[in-house]
Amino acid sequence: MKVVLLGAPGAGKGTQCKSIVARYDLLHLSSGDILRQERAEGTKLGKKAQAYMDSGALVPDEIIIKMMAKAIGKAPVAGFILDGFPRTVNQAVELDKALGASGQKIDAVLNLEIDDNVVTKRITGRRSCPECGAVYHIENLKPKTEGICDNDGTELVQRSDDTEEVLVNRLETYHQQTEPLVDYYKKNGTVYYFEADRNPEDVRALIFEKMDALVKT
Ligand code: AP5
Repeated sequence: MKVVLLGAPGAGKGTQCKSIVARYDLLHLSSGDILRQERAEGTKLGKKAQAYMDSGALVPDEIIIKMMAKAIGKAPVAGFILDGFPRTVNQAVELDKALGASGQKIDAVLNLEIDDNVVTKRITGRRSCPECGAVYHIENLKPKTEGICDNDGTELVQRSDDTEEVLVNRLETYHQQTEPLVDYYKKNGTVYYFEADRNPEDVRALIFEKMDALVKT
């Protein structure tokens, strides 16, 4: 199954992907995580992406499309879930072309719907583990010991783009450049909507209900 997960910054895409991949045996391909990994390794790509990410702008399409084509090319037959990609209509068109060339297509688009005022609290309170990638929240999802990852004892960090100032730009970028994707995908009837302003378990249950039905068809 090939799935695209859409939603504003902080809608819970990364959080939900962790449960989805475990249940449906899919590969989680997060463009943001891949970019952060490239930055941590100090690669040419990572250095190119840095200024865009830190200002809340999108990394240019030509860089992202090439990067994600490479990642998708390594995905298992069972499929993948794309988190953060595509993010522009142009990226979606190129993705469809690339998949179409090998007789494949996107089977489902899951759209997490949430208000901007809810995500501000989520984003500014997010902390993550630089070692294993686990995501926490200072109020909603606390680690057992404050500031320390439950999995490996690493000190948690705040993403450099998780400030209120940068978030304003990220949300503007989302509304202008990524939201039009919903209409793009609506045309082929694959979009499913989820109210994301609920606790993570409730959102997960709604997604599983829909995906279980899709897997059966
Ligand atoms: P990316 O890493 O993709 O960031 P994003 O889309 O802004 O999404 P986030 O990771 O911030 O949010 P999320 O929805 O995954 O939320 P999470 O589950 O962590 O992109 C970063 C940057 O990279 C972009 O700005 C851009 O520069 C560049 N980039 C990436 N892809 C690109 C592309 N395709 N093209 C061009 N540029 C690209 O949850 C957030 C917090 O809320 C957590 O603390 C979590 O614990 C908490 N939480 C989650 N769900 C709930 C819930 N239901 N209730 C309460 N709290 C919750």
